[in-house]
Amino acid sequence: MVEQRTENPRVGSSILPLATIFFSSLFRVFPLIRSTVSVVNTEFDADLQQCLRQASHKLDSRLEAEILLAHALDKGRSWLYAHAMTRPDTAQMQAFSNLLERRLAGEPIAYLTGKREFFGRDFIVNKDVLIPRPETEHLVERALELPLPARARVIDIGTGSGCIALTLAAERPAWQVAAADLSPPALAVADQNRRRLGLEQVELVHSDLLAELQDREFDLIISNPPYVATGDPHLDQGDLRFEPALALACDGNGLKLIMQLIEQARRQLVAGGWLLIEHGHEQGEPVASLFEGTGFQQIKTETDLAGLPRLTLGQFP
Ligand SMILES: C[S@@+](CC[C@H](N)C(=O)[O-])C[C@H]1O[C@@H](n2cnc3c(N)ncnc32)[C@H](O)[C@@H]1O
Repeated sequence: MVEQRTENPRVGSSILPLATIFFSSLFRVFPLIRSTVSVVNTEFDADLQQCLRQASHKLDSRLEAEILLAHALDKGRSWLYAHAMTRPDTAQMQAFSNLLERRLAGEPIAYLTGKREFFGRDFIVNKDVLIPRPETEHLVERALELPLPARARVIDIGTGSGCIALTLAAERPAWQVAAADLSPPALAVADQNRRRLGLEQVELVHSDLLAELQDREFDLIISNPPYVATGDPHLDQGDLRFEPALALACDGNGLKLIMQLIEQARRQLVAGGWLLIEHGHEQGEPVASLFEGTGFQQIKTETDLAGLPRLTLGQFP
């Protein structure tokens, strides 16, 4: 084989790659055929109860199976229980089968269903935005507890889906809330959420941190910035593999943007204004030192539900 390729490089450069492409496509398509057969054809007469049983086994999760089946049928999860004997049609089975395939390949549930609940409201999400996390709800709760003026001017930096800014605007209708992001596709998702939630008063700004807002003053600057160190092996695991790198990773051991934001915030907070930042659980001490070195007071680092340092806040005198 080696001799042949050496003697006639054309064989090596044309037939071998063609064969490789043929076999690799076969292997890529095969699991799809197999799963389509098992979920759609052989189970063509399956009712919802049987579909759920099979899918729960495949996914090793009853909850995920219910969420995906309900999504494929465009119904709520409780509907599945009330219609356990219903037999989905071919198109519905195919849609469910496709969702299962994608989930088995690791794609996050929220991207498959296109939504995630945050602070009691559904937010549209897609691959252009981070999937809102429960720990970020704590950041929002903390902001709502701050002693701020009735018509507080607030900016959310790195808004992504808009979950922080839009939740604050919904919970405190008198606040003047703006939201910034460097990613235009992320801002498009925030805009969809803004419209769906009827919160058109929230201003969306395309900006690198506070760069486009230098003529403005704020009572609160809040942010859940990217804080995973570039090159961190976790970026290649689980849901993170599917989320935008711009939303997750950052140079300077994950601290570069936080450092810049603290420095910029100093110039744009009113006297007595607050800065509230979510960060990695190993970044509590360095972030608190940065707050201190920049002149912030009342600095506190607080833990998330798992008891890990997750957010730091401070007041500018
Ligand atoms: C961790 S995600 C947070 C998204 C959302 N706020 C949340 O909590 O789910 C960080 C966001 O910051 C944005 N971002 C990254 N670098 C930025 C920069 N230099 N200026 C503004 N936004 C940036 C990303 O596009 C992403 O939407």
